[in-house]
Amino acid sequence: MPHLIKHPLALHVITRLREKTTKPAEFRSLCHHLSMLLALEATRDLAMREVAVNTPLEACIGHELARPLVVVPILRAGLGMVEPIVAMFPDVSVGYIGLERDHETAMARNYYCKMPPLAGTRVMVVDPMLATGGSAVQAIDVVKQKGGGEICMLNVVAAPEGVKAIEDAHPDVPIYTCALDRALNDKKYILPGLGDFGDRLYGT
Ligand code: URA
Repeated sequence: MPHLIKHPLALHVITRLREKTTKPAEFRSLCHHLSMLLALEATRDLAMREVAVNTPLEACIGHELARPLVVVPILRAGLGMVEPIVAMFPDVSVGYIGLERDHETAMARNYYCKMPPLAGTRVMVVDPMLATGGSAVQAIDVVKQKGGGEICMLNVVAAPEGVKAIEDAHPDVPIYTCALDRALNDKKYILPGLGDFGDRLYGT
């Protein structure tokens, strides 16, 4: 089962995000807030190491992140989730994977891939809509081929079909989502969903 973000703010924000009259400027801001909530939840268990720190009053023990963090947006809609994660984790590296959804077949085509070194990192693959799961499974395949070990998947909205596809192909990859919706329609859009996330984000 995916980790469902149940924070009241997440429920409030996703309701505005679903509303069809919400304009791209507000949509981007709502996406920003949900991405932060998702990233916070997905990094709850990050490894830490102790470091010495001197306060103005005395020395004490503090903590810092022990492992590099990588975020991998699936282009194009995943880009909307990168900025808030970079703002929260300024040292994060960003890998890009371009998977284009064919609207007739709903299959994904890999047209771009550029990854930072992945060995020893925690990788967050981000894509706002987990529909069939085809792109997500393919993106995780690529991250694993390039040496990424500890991977998690962040989605704003997930359909049961997509969750099952990831759980079947990559049972080691936890999924974090703000909403688990009902089903896909015959065009592979999520119901009730929010429409085409990329189009609403970029006003296309
Ligand atoms: N991608 C979207 O943007 N929306 C959906 O409903 C499914 C996939």
